[in-house]
Amino acid sequence: MKLLTIRIQNFRRHADAKLSLGDGVNILYGRNGAGKTNLLEAIHYAALTKSFLNASDSECLKFGATHFEIDAVWQNDRNVEATVRVYFSNEEGKTVFVNRSPLESFSKIVGEFPCVSLSPFDIALVQGAPQERRRFLDSSISQTNKAYLEDLLAYRRLLNQRNKLLSDMKVARNATQHELLAVWTESFASLVASIMFRRLKFVSEFSEVLKKAYRLFHSFDETPTLQYDSDVKLGEQATREEILSEVRLKLARLQDEEIRRGITLLGTHRDDLSFYINDISVKKFASQGQQKTFVICLKLAQHFYIQSILNEKPIFLLDDVFSELDRSRADDLIELLKPMGQSVITTTEKKQFDGITQILIENDGLYTTA
Ligand SMILES: Nc1ncnc2c1ncn2[C@@H]1O[C@H](COP(=O)(O)OP(=O)(O)OP(=O)(O)O)[C@@H](O)[C@H]1O
Ligand SMILES: [Mg+2]
Repeated sequence: MKLLTIRIQNFRRHADAKLSLGDGVNILYGRNGAGKTNLLEAIHYAALTKSFLNASDSECLKFGATHFEIDAVWQNDRNVEATVRVYFSNEEGKTVFVNRSPLESFSKIVGEFPCVSLSPFDIALVQGAPQERRRFLDSSISQTNKAYLEDLLAYRRLLNQRNKLLSDMKVARNATQHELLAVWTESFASLVASIMFRRLKFVSEFSEVLKKAYRLFHSFDETPTLQYDSDVKLGEQATREEILSEVRLKLARLQDEEIRRGITLLGTHRDDLSFYINDISVKKFASQGQQKTFVICLKLAQHFYIQSILNEKPIFLLDDVFSELDRSRADDLIELLKPMGQSVITTTEKKQFDGITQILIENDGLYTTA
């Protein structure tokens, strides 16, 4: 997947900017605050309808403006072009158009314009809360599996409904509520089983890809592994049916306590992922440099994984990675990125690299490869 051009209006600090990119590695360089990260953020909007920094739409709206607009032209690896337009205003909210047709649901675009991002905030994947790692799991799987994303959305809706019911039942309950709870618990168990099954499958496949990323980027004698953590104890090879019966059993045992506490106590929204290097916890024992390397390799592996399933190279957005790497590591990374399709890297200084596109980001305006 390649971004040919993008025009952004009233997005972050840019009143009206247009950027054209080259095929392979692109470096956006410029002073602090010039708007380089803003551009990556806009590209991420054009791929996945949202910021990679978890910023809200209104935070991205240029101070004082009433609406922002992003217009992108994509070209996939079979040379088919598509346009994406994202329009947002505080009054009307966000609308996304693909080839001029409005999307009825933003989830429809996920996987159409595959995208992997890496920013200094991604250290939260190692150091942060379980939610960060679930987001990584979900975004990796969703981009390659539409059914997974649908299950995930259905799961979130059902979880909210079920929690509401349980909290009502905590106060006072009747037979109708018990019947409803039984029905919802069965649908809930089914969604937990589907999501968990796909996550376990992902973890087992992704482990191999992560090892490959380590071999390519990291020369030391370190073997990364990952493990899916859940209250539902199951082997990596468990079938969906095995998971389902275990989840049903656990939920039945928990029912009284769930009603007493008024909340769902089991499910994929409570699961986590643990990372290890040579069987030692990355979060607890790895050095800062080792943690950073781990995060970079996770994202490289995410790129390899998505490409292998979709047969399409994701666009790779790398925010400020060089500041974290010494020169030889930076060289290694550039060499690694060259065959990986289109990538966009932000940095404050122009680098001495051959055969890559470098674009100066200065003031608002036209940024081209020329
Ligand atoms: N909603 C907004 N409206 C207007 N300006 C904004 C908005 N959000 C952020 N900015 C401005 O955009 C600038 C940040 O741009 P950006 O983060 O893209 O810089 P950068 O080129 O990546 O810099 P650095 O090299 O420091 O990472 C800041 O000066 C900030 O004040
Ligand atoms: Mg920046």
